[in-house]
Amino acid sequence: MTDQPKDRVFIFDTTLRDGEQSPGATMTHSEKLEIAELLEDMGVDIIEAGFPIASEGDFKAVSEIAQRSKEAVICGLARAQIPDIDRCWEAVKHAARPRIHTFIGTSPLHRAIPNLTMDEMADRIHETVTHARNLCDNVQWSPMDATRTEFDYLCRTIEIAIKAGATTINIPDTVGYTAPRESAELIRRLIETIPGADEVIFATHCHNDLGMATANSLAAVEAGARQIECTINGLGERAGNTALEEVVMALKTRGDIMPFDTGVDTRKIMHISRRVATVSGFAVQFNKAIVGKNAFAHESGIHQDGMLKNAETFEIMRPEDVGLSGTSLPLGKHSGRAALRAKLKDLGVDVGDNQLKDIFVRFKELADRKKEVFDEDILALVTATMAGDADHLEIVSLKVVCGTGGPAEAILEMEVGGQETSADEYGDGPVDATFKAIRKVYPNKARLQLYQVNAVTEGTDAQATVSVRLEEDGNIATGQSADTDTVVASARAYVNALNRLHVRRSKTGTDRKEISYKDVS
Ligand code: KIV
Ligand code: ZN
Repeated sequence: MTDQPKDRVFIFDTTLRDGEQSPGATMTHSEKLEIAELLEDMGVDIIEAGFPIASEGDFKAVSEIAQRSKEAVICGLARAQIPDIDRCWEAVKHAARPRIHTFIGTSPLHRAIPNLTMDEMADRIHETVTHARNLCDNVQWSPMDATRTEFDYLCRTIEIAIKAGATTINIPDTVGYTAPRESAELIRRLIETIPGADEVIFATHCHNDLGMATANSLAAVEAGARQIECTINGLGERAGNTALEEVVMALKTRGDIMPFDTGVDTRKIMHISRRVATVSGFAVQFNKAIVGKNAFAHESGIHQDGMLKNAETFEIMRPEDVGLSGTSLPLGKHSGRAALRAKLKDLGVDVGDNQLKDIFVRFKELADRKKEVFDEDILALVTATMAGDADHLEIVSLKVVCGTGGPAEAILEMEVGGQETSADEYGDGPVDATFKAIRKVYPNKARLQLYQVNAVTEGTDAQATVSVRLEEDGNIATGQSADTDTVVASARAYVNALNRLHVRRSKTGTDRKEISYKDVS
């Protein structure tokens, strides 16, 4: 990859590895395959598909993503240990373009944990990078916590990694501590100082603890980095990572001062953002740059007036550029399947015939109930339809009686493993009564960790998107659903999360091992 033109910035997406490490963001096997396919389709250069030594599940997901990949480089993570690297290679070797990414914590705090001296760590880097390079000709090396590592030692370790065969050197700001000027300065000095630096690609990997991840990544690019590591919606450990949509749109919009290209088709951004929000259970905040519900909304009279005269008065990019039409949808209850397919295509959503059939059924139900169907409604339908593929539990019917003067009552019919069963339960409000009825027909010890309702569009007939997060014996599962009836959306989201827990329970060996970054000895 080193012979690529220098004004091309490679986009390295780590939603499936660093993003999936966010507590509660665990994705199922099929969800990981789907997200990898969307990433590749969108034009991401490198997909970090997982951490193969961490669990059987991670290993299988990375292997299958590698097998299915076409153009994208498929990368797996490995600590600085020979068994990690071997396992990583076993998983990524099926890809047309495999990469091994190995790392070790080089800062004083991180060196202290495995209790390695500087010299011992240098030997370890030489040994492990050489081993990785003997297996794979595309090797990325990361000094974890680089931004808190002594500069001279950082240079020494990077030089060793380059001599041992690393082709990409990633500089992680693991704790989100750096600031833009420092980020740029560090990359510039490393490239100037280290022999052989011009033979490799320098990458930036920024966490968002101080809200500066995107700014730090862009500053690093201006100073010579040519790979940005990022995640969809900025998912990731603690406050998350650099958000893919932010860096890509910043480069596209401010090409005048940052003349760098990425290969990303930005019109696919909104769809993948919604899918990642659904499968991870991490809803996107309304005011999030690019992908938040309000990113293209204008409320004040002055702004609306300006927008009507010329959209550029208050918008620096077009909604269409990120996959939103920006106008209200002309689809209604008389629209046919072809119109729906055309609209989905417009929104950057590619679906197969079976999925289209399911989405169409839901679309018709919605169009019957709702005056106006907006793009956001359509995207929520896609998300809800695709989320509902696990079906050990299925709601057959739900009736709720609620109001003033007494507890709410939920009368529920469900299929559990193909058997019809029913329950009639009372509760403190309609959602409580419904969840109790679900627990009655399907007793379980899952604890409700999060219940969140968002309105997708405006008006009292807006669709509600409900997210539910459950925890059972350390396993976390999330469910999401959308409906104009908040109680129905809540019931479906709850059942969706229970289905995921069921899938996890019924699969053996998919639990993540207690894996520690510190465990390098
Ligand atoms: O933040 C970090 O340092 C990482 C490394 C594993 C690259 O994610
Ligand atoms: Zn990270």
